[in-house]
Amino acid sequence: MTDFHYAHKNTQEGERVTKTAPFNKPQISEEILSLRQNAFMAEIPVSDDETLNFLTTLVSALKPERILELGTAVGASGAAMLEACSVAHLTTVERDEDFYKAAVGNFNMLNLSKRVTAISGDAGEVINGLPENSFDFIFLDCAKVQYIKYLPRLKKLLKKGGVLLADDILLFGYITGEAEVPKKRKMLVEHIKEYISAVTNDGELYTTVLDIGNGVAMSVKK
Ligand SMILES: C[S@@+](CC[C@H](N)C(=O)[O-])C[C@H]1O[C@@H](n2cnc3c(N)ncnc32)[C@H](O)[C@@H]1O
Repeated sequence: MTDFHYAHKNTQEGERVTKTAPFNKPQISEEILSLRQNAFMAEIPVSDDETLNFLTTLVSALKPERILELGTAVGASGAAMLEACSVAHLTTVERDEDFYKAAVGNFNMLNLSKRVTAISGDAGEVINGLPENSFDFIFLDCAKVQYIKYLPRLKKLLKKGGVLLADDILLFGYITGEAEVPKKRKMLVEHIKEYISAVTNDGELYTTVLDIGNGVAMSVKK
């Protein structure tokens, strides 16, 4: 079976591979593995192995009852979280209509439909209509440039003690200085830096930035 480490290819600099990546493979069912592989082959953006491994390890420990995911793609990370946490219900938002339809089909195929509220729409709009203090865990994995804009609302949606996990926070090494920032990415880098600064200086959050996959920021609401 082909070994896929990274979905997020930075076309200019190549892939970012952490030192721990070879040890961190997700334990997921054959069905989800195959769903991810099909997605990788179709160049659909899907979380890398190391990030997915962290995500499933985390939800298996925290046992969140209500998970919100922004950026469903075709449902691979959502399905993996539900598999790792049997008490969880997933609300997941995707704005690409074709991905949304594929995800709904995949949740159905995996017999997970009853545990999923799949929403087709723009995350920025959808989050305004979701109830406050209602999520134990939020996986933020859509438009990176919008993370900083979504943050105040996501804090409201989280329950006390809830976890907000933001993916791709080190952006192929642009944030740490490992890779030179291409001109067209400068604004994105500024927005992600703003997000990191906001979550690490927020008195209402505990935050750790971790060098996992393409980088994640894990924040806990006090
Ligand atoms: C990295 S992919 C998600 C991967 C998925 N979480 C997984 O690991 O299997 C990001 C997804 O976010 C979606 N997206 C981007 N901007 C969005 C927005 N503003 N609202 C909702 N979805 C968005 C993209 O269409 C894409 O499918």
